Amino acid sequence: MLKKLRAKFPRRSVAYARARALVSRHPLPPGDLVRLDVIEKNDRTFLLRRATEVGPIFKAIAWDEFWVCIVGLELGRRLLREHADALRPVTLKLEPLFPKGFLRQMQGEDHRRYRKALQRAIRGEDLAANRRGLDAIAADALARYATQPRAAEDSAADLIRTLNAIASGMLIQIFFGAQFGTPQFERVLAGYHRLGPYGLVWNLGPQQHAAFAEIRDFLLAEFGGAATSHPPGAEASILGQLVREGTLDATLLGNLIYMVEMGRYDTYSLFRWLVKYAADHPTLLDAIAHEDASKVPPTGRRSLAEAFVIETLRMDQSERLIRVAQRDLVFEGWLIPKHATVRICLWEPHKSPATFPEPFRFDPARFLAEKDPGADQFAPFGLDAHQCPFGDLAIGLSVIFLRALARAYVPASLGDGLPVKGAFHWEPASRFGVKLEPRPPIT
Ligand code: HEM
Repeated sequence: MLKKLRAKFPRRSVAYARARALVSRHPLPPGDLVRLDVIEKNDRTFLLRRATEVGPIFKAIAWDEFWVCIVGLELGRRLLREHADALRPVTLKLEPLFPKGFLRQMQGEDHRRYRKALQRAIRGEDLAANRRGLDAIAADALARYATQPRAAEDSAADLIRTLNAIASGMLIQIFFGAQFGTPQFERVLAGYHRLGPYGLVWNLGPQQHAAFAEIRDFLLAEFGGAATSHPPGAEASILGQLVREGTLDATLLGNLIYMVEMGRYDTYSLFRWLVKYAADHPTLLDAIAHEDASKVPPTGRRSLAEAFVIETLRMDQSERLIRVAQRDLVFEGWLIPKHATVRICLWEPHKSPATFPEPFRFDPARFLAEKDPGADQFAPFGLDAHQCPFGDLAIGLSVIFLRALARAYVPASLGDGLPVKGAFHWEPASRFGVKLEPRPPIT
């Protein structure tokens, strides 16, 4: 019967899901089969309303495939816990580049082992040790953006290029220890320009294979265990730590290279939202400019810069987790059929008025006290064993970027409009750019 089904309908289609429901004792989740990919383009709050109308688990279509949406962090966490073995994360297929592929889609013992090795190599002190280089990367690129003459309509594209350069530079330094301004740094950066010249390339072609091999071989020669001497700074990096611990293998190195590739996109997207909120809230930016970055906030308090970053994550950056069902699952009495895409929503629960009064208002003061709402109310970095291992690093780099912006400039919005749904995430309006006016010296 199931073989016949597979032959008759495409695996991810609505027809296939319906046919599986016919042979199951459990119904498909409620909800009309609306086209999420189309509706959401013009209505970002659609899922919030749908959850109020039909309940927190409902079905829909996206890109002609059958989807199940889950709205609620506790619910999402429970689904992931109860069916961990049968829900596979969706991400880049990197097995053609290195054994075992991306950590994001590993499961079981492989995932535990590689994730543990990676977590041991991420050390807070490396961020501090690289601080001057990271400051310089942000300051240098912002200064070039601020002083370069351009037509107002070119500022949006230039801003993206600038933020991408900052994010890429920061991650290259932290991951590989290649210091900003050195030939090694330029060489690795050039490799990344070839790997994803216009953003993350989802289907790898010959150019990605060649660029990946080039970055890998260069890193091994310069910074790897066999190198006779390491360039300065290599010690205080994730790669340096893995080499020291003797855990670096082809899988981990391949993962580091692609984490930077994917992470630079996440990071510059977050920087773009930070610039947008900075331009919209000059008084807050002014307060950040006058914050003493060298002063540790009193116990239980965060700096305004950090609270600003976390509020930006809540408002815009963190959206959803995606999984594909590897077999039929029953959750809360509903059938999630094999091959269905499951979307566990993060953005929507982060707008709950019960946890975040006036949830659509940008208000970093919510996060000034270090005591966050519980993990069932706020989870910008995920809900299960695949939670982002770089959450603290992403916040730390964002604080460095925001302070560099605040201390030197007053950004004024040049083109604005409603947020748009980009290829992977919601983004500020396509024409959003800024003019960076120099800030009067801070005394
Ligand atoms: C900038 C803000 C960032 C946000 C909001 C973010 C968010 C997330 C989320 C929600 C997950 C869970 C995905 C899932 O369960 O399917 C995740 C996983 C992950 N993130 Fe991030 N991330 C950020 C930055 C970064 C950076 C900078 C890197 C690396 C350079 C990174 C590397 C990873 C990796 C490797 C995983 C998968 C971990 C695993 O499967 O064990 N992320 N991230």
